[in-house]
Amino acid sequence: MSAIPLLEVRDLKKHFPLHGGLLGRQTGAVYAVDGVSFTVNKGETLSIVGESGFGKSTVGKAILRLYPITSGEVHLDGQRIDNLPGPHLRPLRQRVQVVFQDPFSSLNPRQRVGDIIAEPIVNFGLASGSELEDRVAGLMDKVGLPRDAVKRYPHEFSGGQRQRIGIARALAPGADLIICDEAVSALDVSVKAQIVNLLSDLQDELGLALLFISHDLAIVEHLTHRVAVMYLGKIVEVADRRTLFATPHHPYTRALLSAVPVPDPTAPRNRIILRGDVPSPINPPSGCRFHTRCPLAHDRCKVEEPVLRDVGQGQMSACHLDTPLG
Ligand SMILES: Nc1ncnc2c1ncn2[C@@H]1O[C@H](COP(=O)(O)OP(=O)(O)OP(=O)(O)O)[C@@H](O)[C@H]1O
Ligand code: SF4
Ligand SMILES: [Mg+2]
Repeated sequence: MSAIPLLEVRDLKKHFPLHGGLLGRQTGAVYAVDGVSFTVNKGETLSIVGESGFGKSTVGKAILRLYPITSGEVHLDGQRIDNLPGPHLRPLRQRVQVVFQDPFSSLNPRQRVGDIIAEPIVNFGLASGSELEDRVAGLMDKVGLPRDAVKRYPHEFSGGQRQRIGIARALAPGADLIICDEAVSALDVSVKAQIVNLLSDLQDELGLALLFISHDLAIVEHLTHRVAVMYLGKIVEVADRRTLFATPHHPYTRALLSAVPVPDPTAPRNRIILRGDVPSPINPPSGCRFHTRCPLAHDRCKVEEPVLRDVGQGQMSACHLDTPLG
């Protein structure tokens, strides 16, 4: 793997201002992403997992420059991209693509599948005429779409097939990083597995990097190299897949994993039920944000924020149980 990560996110923050009153003044903010750092290497899958509303999609959208970030830096192949002015964004738009959960809303219903896949190739001036047709046909083969799909419309396809269309469109401009935001979450179990296998095969064949955003840890286990666990706008644990699933360290990761269904329902398991309501990113708890639900919380957790630190062999966890008293 290259020394420079393909994607590097440094201390990323995205706060959405809240306005109120007659004058529409800012009254607060949604601290959706509040200081997140990670890397994704070429050809690697990093999964971001966590419960709903914890900022996973906001991380993806901030990288894609779908809105300005509050602070922090995003680097692609060593080049800073979060502050690039509009006209210089073309390489980012070409190299970083996204596949969303609901392909139906992201595919133009009035466009034929062939045109949907051809559009980015045309926009980036990569091919025309018969070369364009060949490229579209090649992409459809790669993602397992029948050739006659070229003249059909998205509504004629099942959810899984539509997701294949979305993946072909993402590959079309020659992307080397695809952000998959809950890309398989809405699919039936068997279709889910097919799309996960497709992504995995495409990664092997094309050396693609994937940022796989999901609330479903069971799916992540089959696809990812590393996992970053998010809790209320922060990353609380990062580890390679085997380590995270075999020896989860952070109390939140342990609780999440204890809820993942196991193939053998008779196997012994200790489900950790989290107490308390999920806190709001408008008013995050002081100290460790997980302290209102953590079964191991102690006094220090309410006042001091734990930092991510190496707890052995590259496994990073943010919990006071690992840190000496300062
Ligand atoms: N454009 C926006 N304006 C204001 N608040 C927003 C905006 N987008 C997201 N949020 C808020 O930011 C927080 C994080 O949202 P985000 O969509 O990133 O969570 P998520 O982890 O992807 O959740 P889910 O698993 O449900 O997709 C939520 O409280 C959400 O309501
Ligand atoms: S710092 Fe405290 S509240 Fe946070 S995860 Fe560790 S023990 Fe739980
Ligand atoms: Mg989301």
